[in-house]
Amino acid sequence: MIFILNDLTPVEAQYYLQHAIAPRPICFASTIDKVGNVNLSPFSFFNLFSANPPIVIFSPGRRLRDNTIKHTLENVKEVPEVVINIVTQDMVQQTSLASCEYAKGVNEFIKAGFTPERATIVSPPMVKESKIKLECKVIEIKSLGNDAGAGNLIICEVLKLHMDDSLLDENKKIDQRKINHVARLGADWYCVVNETNLFTVPKPISELGIGVESLPENIRNSKILSGNDLGQLANVSEMPIVDATFSDVRLKEIIQYYSMSPDEMEKELHHYAKQLLSKGCVREAWQILISAY
Ligand SMILES: Cc1cc2nc3c(=O)[nH]c(=O)nc-3n(C[C@H](O)[C@H](O)[C@H](O)COP(=O)(O)O)c2cc1C
Repeated sequence: MIFILNDLTPVEAQYYLQHAIAPRPICFASTIDKVGNVNLSPFSFFNLFSANPPIVIFSPGRRLRDNTIKHTLENVKEVPEVVINIVTQDMVQQTSLASCEYAKGVNEFIKAGFTPERATIVSPPMVKESKIKLECKVIEIKSLGNDAGAGNLIICEVLKLHMDDSLLDENKKIDQRKINHVARLGADWYCVVNETNLFTVPKPISELGIGVESLPENIRNSKILSGNDLGQLANVSEMPIVDATFSDVRLKEIIQYYSMSPDEMEKELHHYAKQLLSKGCVREAWQILISAY
């Protein structure tokens, strides 16, 4: 199915795009108006766009219901400062509550039960319960249109990053497993990032991978190895050669057992290599794939 965005209503367009472009991190934006009223609202049209200068952007859209603009946007036009509080699993229900369309001037810190904490260089308060907070100055606001659903990019320069000590190890490195970010997907779906679903993908930036097209044909066209498996195998800087010192009991068994049926042997070797790749053992997988020939 192909959707032509122009043929969809704004509500439909938002529905499909939000499911497709996910998960999105959540910016919990604290702002104030010119007389000091505090506002706190979540925005998942949000991301990091530059490290130098350090720029993040989030986007309060024009309300789909009545094409009015959100209080957050009104506030940053009056006072171009924002604290972006990063949302983690233990805050998600209160964060959702803060997204209610409360009347202008209503303080969502109070409604959602969060504790305001004085920021160090900007006027809006930080959310004490958030473990990561960004004090930002708004450097530009870019309207993307005047129709209902149109976004307004709030381009922010990050001046200060507050990171809870509990997230850092002894070398001041962040332990990703401890953050428990939550993110927004389509409709009411959220996800949490924790040890049960985190994984790493090593990428040697100093060396070029040989590329999938350089893999031997029987590996490239394997019915057993997946795209992810080929991606790992092709991410070596040169084609591996047989290592005479490599010894593996399972490899020997496969070679002995299937010596009379090369096709079956190849299948077994590919299954075994796949198992090794799922554990990140790329060198061993390569030896399994090339040693039998
Ligand atoms: C997790 C989450 C993410 C949201 N992301 C956005 C967003 O990116 N843009 C937007 O316009 N509204 C978004 N909303 C809805 C706003 O939070 C909601 O309209 C809020 O009332 C705006 O508050 P304000 O008028 O006080 O600024 C989101 C709501 C939730 C719960």
